[in-house]
Amino acid sequence: MEKLVVKGPTPLKGEVTISGAKNAAVAILPATLLIDGVCTIENLPNISDIKISCEILEKLGAKITWNNKNSITIDTTNINTTKAPLDLTSKFRASYYLIGAMLSRKGEIEVGMPGGCKLGARPIDQHIKGFERLGATVTVEKGRISAKAKKLTGTSIYMDIVSVGATINVMLSAVLAKGTTTIDNAAKEPHIVDVANFLNTMGADIRGAGTDMIKINGVEKLSGNATYSVVPDQIEAGTFMLAAVATKGDITLKNCITKHLESITAKIIEVGGKVEDNGDSIRVWCNQRPQKANIKTLPYPGFPTDLQPQMGVVLSIADGASIINESIWESRFQYTDELNKMGAKITAQGKTAFFEGVKKLSGAPVYSTDLRAGAALVIAGTVANGSTEIYNLEHIDRGYENIEEKFRKLGAKIERVTE
Ligand code: UD1
Repeated sequence: MEKLVVKGPTPLKGEVTISGAKNAAVAILPATLLIDGVCTIENLPNISDIKISCEILEKLGAKITWNNKNSITIDTTNINTTKAPLDLTSKFRASYYLIGAMLSRKGEIEVGMPGGCKLGARPIDQHIKGFERLGATVTVEKGRISAKAKKLTGTSIYMDIVSVGATINVMLSAVLAKGTTTIDNAAKEPHIVDVANFLNTMGADIRGAGTDMIKINGVEKLSGNATYSVVPDQIEAGTFMLAAVATKGDITLKNCITKHLESITAKIIEVGGKVEDNGDSIRVWCNQRPQKANIKTLPYPGFPTDLQPQMGVVLSIADGASIINESIWESRFQYTDELNKMGAKITAQGKTAFFEGVKKLSGAPVYSTDLRAGAALVIAGTVANGSTEIYNLEHIDRGYENIEEKFRKLGAKIERVTE
């Protein structure tokens, strides 16, 4: 078993380069199934979700060549099965994108129920509603989802809930449909724009991605023969910005899109941190104990739920009492029990958590309960006095490229140890 051992406290200082966005990349890879040919994808994060996505695509018949650890060339000319390996598709959430992509490409697909972080109920009714509106039949039974469509026809779809996954999935299934599809009440996250940009680069006709109304004019085929670079990861960037504040450090983030970080910047300034926007890089520093603040997570451009645990670390040591209201997921406060083991005073009730800021945290053995909770514990370990041991690293490795190396370069005393 592997664990991360972090010895603190250390103010994190220096430069970090942000990797490609996990949540864009896990959608762009299945989107290559729409292409009858070859394309190259660069700036892929080197994380386990990407390796599993590639393995699934290979099992479907794709040929993948790794150009380096962050770039692949993928040939999807010969997709020869419509049954995705159930064990692999159940390992992560984004395997649901295979449904939209394969409905477009082959008119049929069977996948395992998507896995991923346990953040409470994670229904996919809006995905299914979209596929059915386009003409597909979807069955969910015995841990599998099967979808079939003789023909997909453009239509108007209203999303009852703002959903990242459903917006992208419907986009994937509508790109090659006959006629025009509109998605109303669409999600606006940066990775939605990135997937649309990828598809448009390959020959699709998608307009309005990044607004709440997306229009997709069906095209006959996507021809590929292009190179696409994945957008920088908003959540990884936010993680390092909040690490700078929590540790009273000074970090410059390279390769980021500062526009995507506005809600985080606003909250950092509110708690007393400083932010300097330099276009494609951003500097964040903090010379004082963070001040209290209240946070409500919201779909983009609101404060992202995927940065809520990292912000929770900042508020756990803030001067004063803070409240976080989690409006997206019903069980996203499991990490607060772990922070409490380190001396934090947090009471979580349903979708609200009360933070009574303490002056310091102390090292303890803790368990990463999900991906972003794991990143929060790495920050907490860097803030805390003494040694923190973090277990369940498989969560962190799903979404952060070389987390310990990046933290170490900023001065953290962090080691991966095999027990
Ligand atoms: C994506 C992200 C995840 C992030 C989340 C919210 C990926 C791979 N994962 O997850 O990291 O936390 O967006 O920003 O991109 N819902 C329904 N019915 C549906 C779909 C969603 O009720 O059919 C609800 C969910 O329960 C949740 C809310 O809508 O309360 C938002 O979920 P959604 O945006 O779909 O999240 P994911 O795409 O699963």
